[in-house]
Amino acid sequence: MVEFILRCSHCGREYPPSPDRYTCPHDGHNLDVILDYATLRRTLHPRQILTAQEPSIWRYLPLLPVEDPGGWGTPLRRVGWTPVEEAPRLREALGLPHLWVKDESPNPTASFKDRASAVVLARARQEGRDVVVTASTGNAGAALAGLAAALGIRAVIFAPHTAPRAKVAQLMMYAAQVYLVRGTYDQAYDLSLQAAARWGWYCRNTGYNPFTAEGKKTAALELWEQLLRRVRTTRPWAVFVPVGDGNIIAGLYKGFWDLVQLGWLPQMPRLFGVQAEGSAAVAQAFFAESQEIQPVQAHTVADSIAVDLPRDGYRALRAVRESGGTFVVVSDAEILEAMRLLGRFGWFVEPAAAASLAGLRKALEMGLVSGQDPVVLLLTGSGLKDVETAIHAAGQPPEIPPTLDALEQP
Ligand SMILES: Cc1ncc(COP(=O)(O)O)c(C=O)c1O
Ligand SMILES: [Zn+2]
Repeated sequence: MVEFILRCSHCGREYPPSPDRYTCPHDGHNLDVILDYATLRRTLHPRQILTAQEPSIWRYLPLLPVEDPGGWGTPLRRVGWTPVEEAPRLREALGLPHLWVKDESPNPTASFKDRASAVVLARARQEGRDVVVTASTGNAGAALAGLAAALGIRAVIFAPHTAPRAKVAQLMMYAAQVYLVRGTYDQAYDLSLQAAARWGWYCRNTGYNPFTAEGKKTAALELWEQLLRRVRTTRPWAVFVPVGDGNIIAGLYKGFWDLVQLGWLPQMPRLFGVQAEGSAAVAQAFFAESQEIQPVQAHTVADSIAVDLPRDGYRALRAVRESGGTFVVVSDAEILEAMRLLGRFGWFVEPAAAASLAGLRKALEMGLVSGQDPVVLLLTGSGLKDVETAIHAAGQPPEIPPTLDALEQP
């Protein structure tokens, strides 16, 4: 396994990895995993990864701060390596000849969150932990519950009582210990931290656990392998990412940053963070040119990105600023419209995932990207995760008697 240290994303203090080292003891900020790049540059050739046989995140083990978790013959081995699609009809509809879509719904629990849960579970296994807890708006919990079930590790999940029912069903079906908290995701988050401290559970919480971003960086490694090194372009890439806590965008940035450190990627793609109007704490800090994120009272149809106080907001700001991207804020109506548009072209996604298309459309309108730019849309979760919203967005078909006459009526 590659050597690494933990470095505070805020003050730069460094810490050796240890089982219960989550955040910086000095200022509470999230920790980056800093790999031993000097050794990697000497000993690892990209060919070792490009010729790997495993079609999953585990092809990147040489760049991950965990040992191989095993779990052969289980869904853990098929996390990641999701398709990048050329989307010809969507390209035409948007007037973007250089658009690609990375769809995360083929993941074992049908969202991007499997990447983080898989790597955190690998870490838990390595440290001999048998209970892992997380707070979740739904997907991170489902990912932890499903993959923990595959490994025989106990999962404890705290979700807001408003979580979509399909996500709660998934948690229950994976036989996790589930608590629906009468409160917000943020309250569930604080409660999960208290419970982890009280009972000595390993905590997966998004952002707080440094290995979550390491899991999410695998999507950047895949984009590099599947797209960036294959498609030559003189224009910088733009990647559209929905932002709630900010851990996905921070993880993508980390993956691209690792590749730049290794000398395998000449230029970082621009990261465009998309937030819902009613849950835009990070975007507001970005536009105020502030490092301090003021909490909001989140309210949006996109439950996965409904967050009062983003737990990885500081690193999300860094990701967007340092990659030369920006934030885009979209309304719920624009999110639902994007969901319907994606459906028309064959992608059935949950509202948070559709936010990335809503953000791209707005960025085009505002001239933030041009029609000739190479663009990637990250679709972070399946539409089956939130069936009620899908029905609300798409409407109900007519109910008819089983007769041909019924069809022939106007
Ligand atoms: C489907 C989906 N999209 C986007 C996000 C946002 O990710 P983050 O909270 O890391 O910004 C989430 C997080 O739960 C999610 O489940
Ligand atoms: Zn610090």
